[in-house]
Amino acid sequence: MNSRALFTRTSLVLLALLLCLLDYGKIGIGHYASAQTVRLPLKKVYLRDPIKVDQHELESEEEAARRGLSTQNVTMTNYLDVQYYASLLIGDSKHSQTFIWDTGSTLLWIPLNNCSSCPSSNKHTPSGSWSNTGVRYTITYAVGEVSGVIANDNVYLTSSSGASMQLLGVDTVSADLGGLQADGVLGMGPAISSGRPGTLLVEQLKNAGVIGANTFSVEYTFRDETSSILLGGFDTSKVASESAFSWIDLKTTSHWTVPLKKMQYGSTQISIDADGGTLDTGTSLTLFQTADFTNLWAKITEGKTCGYLSGTSTRACQCNSTSDFEEILFQFTGYNAYMPVSAYITFIDNSVSQDLCTFSIDSYSGDLGNIVLLGDSFLREYYIYHDVDGKRVGLYGRTTSSSHLLTYTTLAALLVFCNFLA
Ligand SMILES: *[C@@H]1O[C@H](CO)[C@@H](O)[C@H](O)[C@H]1NC(C)=O
Ligand SMILES: *[C@@H]1O[C@H](CO)[C@@H](O)[C@H](O)[C@H]1NC(C)=O
Ligand SMILES: *[C@@H]1O[C@H](CO)[C@@H](O)[C@H](O)[C@H]1NC(C)=O
Repeated sequence: MNSRALFTRTSLVLLALLLCLLDYGKIGIGHYASAQTVRLPLKKVYLRDPIKVDQHELESEEEAARRGLSTQNVTMTNYLDVQYYASLLIGDSKHSQTFIWDTGSTLLWIPLNNCSSCPSSNKHTPSGSWSNTGVRYTITYAVGEVSGVIANDNVYLTSSSGASMQLLGVDTVSADLGGLQADGVLGMGPAISSGRPGTLLVEQLKNAGVIGANTFSVEYTFRDETSSILLGGFDTSKVASESAFSWIDLKTTSHWTVPLKKMQYGSTQISIDADGGTLDTGTSLTLFQTADFTNLWAKITEGKTCGYLSGTSTRACQCNSTSDFEEILFQFTGYNAYMPVSAYITFIDNSVSQDLCTFSIDSYSGDLGNIVLLGDSFLREYYIYHDVDGKRVGLYGRTTSSSHLLTYTTLAALLVFCNFLA
């Protein structure tokens, strides 16, 4: 097999595995009658010890976090840098299932034993603690949808720490989610829109006393490092203090969306319609609405030989080094977030002809409401602190390895995987 065919095949596989799990609010089939969840107003807990109050010694969350107060550290499995997942234990059987921890949606869904269209074979059989509401509901993601029945059950991080959750027991999954590597999806959006079902795991764990604060931090990395989500705080060995983050208030609480003022490619401003950037761990790439992407792509490809990998919809250019490209700047209110070249291109080591690189930025079609979808390829550059009650996110720049060469070894491994799937 010549190398060209090898690349083509590989790209096709990768394409099928990319996710775009943004629940953008389309009302699904079925009807959810009323909001059955009582949401308790939560106050931030700054104090632990009443004696300290008398002495006027307030302990901040960060000080408490430094003492190791009630955080839970979850190590994520990284599937080819395009899907990140970790397990939860479901129900009183404490059945382990894996989930994409998705900041772009709010509902937890698990595949049920009567789901024949579910891509996973690890399905859940409801047991004693399962309580079915009988209400059917559909989650519509930017790509794909799932349907099932709203139920209540206990969900555990470890066998001894868990909380009660309202979730979706899924019996139908659309074919475009066939590449999902996890069994289900855990929605981690900042708030559940009114009239929608579900409970938020972080809030429930906080209420149950498992974690100390209604916050979580995401550190997604390339495969050569460990990815993790810390529930209830941030890792003070990685970011020294809360003030070390650059804080951005959310534009809307339906998603982790921050106001986007301006975008640049190198020093050139790119004309965009988008006025928000949505942080979404459930989306593999960084995606722009079509017109915005067209403007950016024109700059990126200026003076270069670019096109598609033959027979695929994967964009590629001839390129020799990262210096052929420039970094992308997102100007949020009060903070410039950079996406370095190494974050959005992947070199394909092509010994036969001119080297090629592919991109982890692309366009989405359809109307998600003037946003740039900041997926895993953007998120890997930052340690991100999600403050649910404060309705804000803190970004802290990580330093990542400078280039990620897709070698023949990797390609061969992918090809084996592809044959296995077929
Ligand atoms: C699948 O099982 C659930 C839970 O027992 C039930 O509510 C749902 O109606 C079933 N779906 C189908 C298609 O039978
Ligand atoms: C959480 O786990 C990750 C990966 O195993 C590790 O790098 C990190 O230091 C841990 N953080 C805390 C606070 O335990
Ligand atoms: C890459 O390097 C080769 C050989 O030095 C050169 O011919 C080619 O023009 C370069 N391509 C780009 C896109 O810079």
